[in-house]
Amino acid sequence: MSKSLIQFIIEEQRQIPNASGNFTGLLNDIISACKQIAHDVNKGALIGVLGSAGSENVQGETQKKLDIITNEIFIKANEWGGHLAAMASEEMDDIYEIPKQYPRGKYLITFDPLDGSSNIDVNVSVGTIFSILRCPEGVTHPTASDFMQPGTTQVCAGYALYGPNTMIVLTTGNGVNGFTLDRDVGDFFLTNPDMQVPVDTQEFAINMSNRRFWEEPVQRYVEECIKGVDGGREKNFNMRWVGSMVADVHRILMRGGIFMYPFDTKDAARAGKLRLMYEANPMSFIVEQAGGVCSTGRERIMALLPVGLHQRVPVILGSKNEVERLVSYHKDV
Ligand code: AHG
Ligand code: MN
Ligand code: MN
Repeated sequence: MSKSLIQFIIEEQRQIPNASGNFTGLLNDIISACKQIAHDVNKGALIGVLGSAGSENVQGETQKKLDIITNEIFIKANEWGGHLAAMASEEMDDIYEIPKQYPRGKYLITFDPLDGSSNIDVNVSVGTIFSILRCPEGVTHPTASDFMQPGTTQVCAGYALYGPNTMIVLTTGNGVNGFTLDRDVGDFFLTNPDMQVPVDTQEFAINMSNRRFWEEPVQRYVEECIKGVDGGREKNFNMRWVGSMVADVHRILMRGGIFMYPFDTKDAARAGKLRLMYEANPMSFIVEQAGGVCSTGRERIMALLPVGLHQRVPVILGSKNEVERLVSYHKDV
C-alpha cells in the first residue's frame, strides 16, 4: 500500500531542521475534520443534513445546513490541538479565537468549510479549502489584521474534494501531492504524487451567463476560444463549469485548463466573486506549485496585500500558456 498522508508529511517535515512537529499535528486535525465532513456529505439526506438553514452569512449568502455543520466540524477538530492561535472562515463574520481552555499555537488558518454549497442538494461534488499562515511573532491575541498577509507567506494550502472519491490535495511549498481516502482503512493514501498542470490546454471554465458583465480582455479571450480554428486560434476548445471551485480546480490539476471568475460589472460593490483569503490564495499556492499561473488579470493573486477577511478578487488560473495569453490581453487595453 502507498504512503499515508501523515507518513508523507512526517517524512517531508524531517527534511526541515528544527521542525517541532506542530505542523504535523495541525494537519492531522485538518484530516480528521475532512473525514468527518466527508462522512456527512456522503450520508446526505439519510442523516437530514441537506437543504437550507434559513440564515445568511456575512456576505449575504443564504446558508445551507451543511455550511453551518461543516464550519462547526472544522472548528471543533482544530481548536483543541494547541497548534492554532485563531481561525477565519467564510461562514463567520469575524475571526475565531482559540477558547481559553486550550493552548494557543503558532499558526493561523483560513477556510471555506463547504465550497460549492449550491451543488450539495443536487449531489454534485463539493469541497473544503484551507490556508495556513504563521501567526506574527509575539502576537498572543490575534486580530483580523494579523491575517492580512499576502498569499506568498502561506505555509501550507490544501483542499478536500468530496466527489466520487474523497481526496485531499495539498502543498507545503514543495510541489503538490494528492491523497485518496480509503474508507475501509480510514486513512488518506498518496495516489497522485507531484501533480503538474499541463502548460497547454483546450478546455476553459467560466460561468457564461455573466458574459455581458465581463471586461473587454475576457470577452476577447472567450470569443476566440469559442471560434477555435475558425477564429485564428490553432485549436478548438471545450468548456466545463462544475460551479464548485474545488472540482473545477481539481480538473485543471489533473488534465489542464483555464479557470476564470474574472472581474465583472454585475455588482458594483465587489471586485469578483471568489474570496482571496480562503479560495483564491490557497488555490493559487497549489496551482503555482504545480506549474500553473494565477492572476487577477493584472496582478499575481498571491502578491496582493489583503485588506479584509472576506475580500473578493478576480481569479484567472490554470495552464500557463493560456493564463499568460489572457493576462497579455489585459495589457493591450
Ligand atoms: P461557496 O459555495 O463556498 O460560496 O463557493 C461557491 C463559489 C465557487 O465554488 C464556484 O466556483 C463559484 O462560486 C460558482 O459561482 P456561480 O454560481 O456564479 O457560477
Ligand atoms: Mn467557496
Ligand atoms: Mn463555502
